[in-house]
Amino acid sequence: MPTALILLAAGQGNRMMSDRAKVLHEVAGAPLLAHAMAAGRALDPVRTVVVTGHQADAVRAAALDIDPEVAVVEQAERLGTGHAVAQARPALDGFSGDVIVLYGDTPFIRPETLEAMAAARAQHAVVVLGFHAADPKRYGRLVMAGEALDRIVEYNDATEAERALTLCNSGVIAADCATLFELIGALSNDNAAGEYYLTDVVGLACARGLSAGVVICDEAETLGVNSRADLAAAEAAFQARARAGALDNGVTLTAPETVFFAFDTVIGRDAVIEPNVIFGSDVTVESGARIRAFSHLEGCHVSRGAVVGPFARLRPGAELAEDVRVGNFVEIKNAQVAEGAKVNHLSYIGDATVGEHANIGAGTITCNYDGVFKHRTEIGAHAFIGSDTMLVAPVRIGAHAMTASGSVITTNVPDDALALGRARQEVKPGLARRLMDRLRAEKAKRKGH
Ligand code: UD1
Ligand code: CA
Repeated sequence: MPTALILLAAGQGNRMMSDRAKVLHEVAGAPLLAHAMAAGRALDPVRTVVVTGHQADAVRAAALDIDPEVAVVEQAERLGTGHAVAQARPALDGFSGDVIVLYGDTPFIRPETLEAMAAARAQHAVVVLGFHAADPKRYGRLVMAGEALDRIVEYNDATEAERALTLCNSGVIAADCATLFELIGALSNDNAAGEYYLTDVVGLACARGLSAGVVICDEAETLGVNSRADLAAAEAAFQARARAGALDNGVTLTAPETVFFAFDTVIGRDAVIEPNVIFGSDVTVESGARIRAFSHLEGCHVSRGAVVGPFARLRPGAELAEDVRVGNFVEIKNAQVAEGAKVNHLSYIGDATVGEHANIGAGTITCNYDGVFKHRTEIGAHAFIGSDTMLVAPVRIGAHAMTASGSVITTNVPDDALALGRARQEVKPGLARRLMDRLRAEKAKRKGH
C-alpha cells in the first residue's frame, strides 16, 4: 500500500521561551522535525507533506534541507489539528493510499510502531496510536468499545469518568487518504477549544459504520517536546537509547553515560570509545578503532585500527585511514590521512593530504588560510615533518622528504629532500654570563638609590 506522511509543524511552542520555532530545536544535533521525518521514512512514503505555520519560512527551509522532496504547505491560521491536516490535501492531489499523520515535535516514534499501524489498517479504517499514560494529564482519552476504538475525547471536553481513562492519544493516526479527507471535511469546531480536532475523525468514522482500532506503544515513544525541560529529557532519552544500542552492537563504552552521540553516528563492532567523547553529526568509526577520552568528532571517518585522542578534535572532512594515530591536542579538518600516518601531538592539519606512514612532528601547523582563500598542503608518503614546522600552503612535501624542526616551509620540497627553513643558529661563548652579570649589577645600583 503506498503511504504518504503528513507532519504537523505549525505550532508556536510558547513554552519553549524561544525565538525559534519549536520543531527546529535540536536533539542529538538534528531538529525535532528531522527525527519525526526519519521515523516516517520507515514506511517508505511516496509523498511527505509538512504543515508549517509559526515561522513558516524557517520551518520550510529546514524541511527542504532535511529532504528536498517534501511538499511544504502553510496553515495560515491555527484552527486545530484537523484543520492543519486539511491544509495538506492539495499537496496529496492524485495520491491514493494510506496517510499517516505525525507531529513534528514528537521525535521518538519507532519505525516498528508505524509499521504495526500500517499493518493494523488491514482490520480498521482508522488506526490511532495510543499509550497507557502513567500520568494522563491533558492528553486526549481513547474511549474503547470492547476491542475497537469508539471515539477520542479531548481533556477539555471530557467528563470526570472519561478523564479517569488512562489510555491516551499519541496524536499519530493512519487512514486511507480519501476516507481521511472526507471525514475531515465533516469536522466541526463545536467544542471546548473551538478548534477542528483531528481526533474527531474517529467518532465520525464509527458513526458511518467504519471501524477504528488502536495500536499501543510505549509511553516513551510518544514523548513530545513542549519546553526546554522536555527538550533536555528528549536529549537524555535519545542518548540513553544510543548508548544502549552501541553496547548491543558490540561497541565498548568505558563510561557510557559520558559519551554523546549524534542522530546519525555509526560505530563498528569492537570499536572502543573511552569516556567523555562527543560525536557531532556525520561520523563513522570503523570496527576496532579506538577513540580515546575527551575527543570531539564531527563529519569524519575513522578507519579500522586507528587511534584518536585523548583530547583530539576531528572536524568535517577528516578522513583517517587504517592504523592512523592522532594524538593529544591535534585538530584535523578536511584532510585525508593515509594508512599508518602519525600526527601525535599539538598539531593543526587542515585542507591537506598526508601520505601513508608520514610522521608529523609535534606542533606542526598547516597554514592553510591567507585571510581570504584556503590552500592545500600535500605531504608525501613516509615524509618526516620536524617538530614545529609551519607549512605555508599551497605547498607540497615530497615522499620520504624531511623538514627540519622549527622550519617555515613556503616552497615545495622534492621527494627525498631535506628542507631547512629557519635562521642559522649563532653561539656567542661567554655572552650569557656577561649579560646576566651586567643586568644584576644594574639592579643592585637601582636599589642603592
Ligand atoms: C493533541 C491531541 C490529543 C493528544 C495530544 C498528544 C487533538 C485535538 N488533540 O492535543 O488528543 O493526546 O495531541 O500530544 O488533536 N498543530 C498544528 N496546527 C494547529 C494545531 C496544532 O500544526 O492548528 C500541531 C502542533 O504544532 C503540534 C500538534 O499539531 O505539533 C499537536 O498540537 P497540540 O496543540 O500540541 O495538540 P494537543 O492539544 O496537545
Ligand atoms: Ca501537545
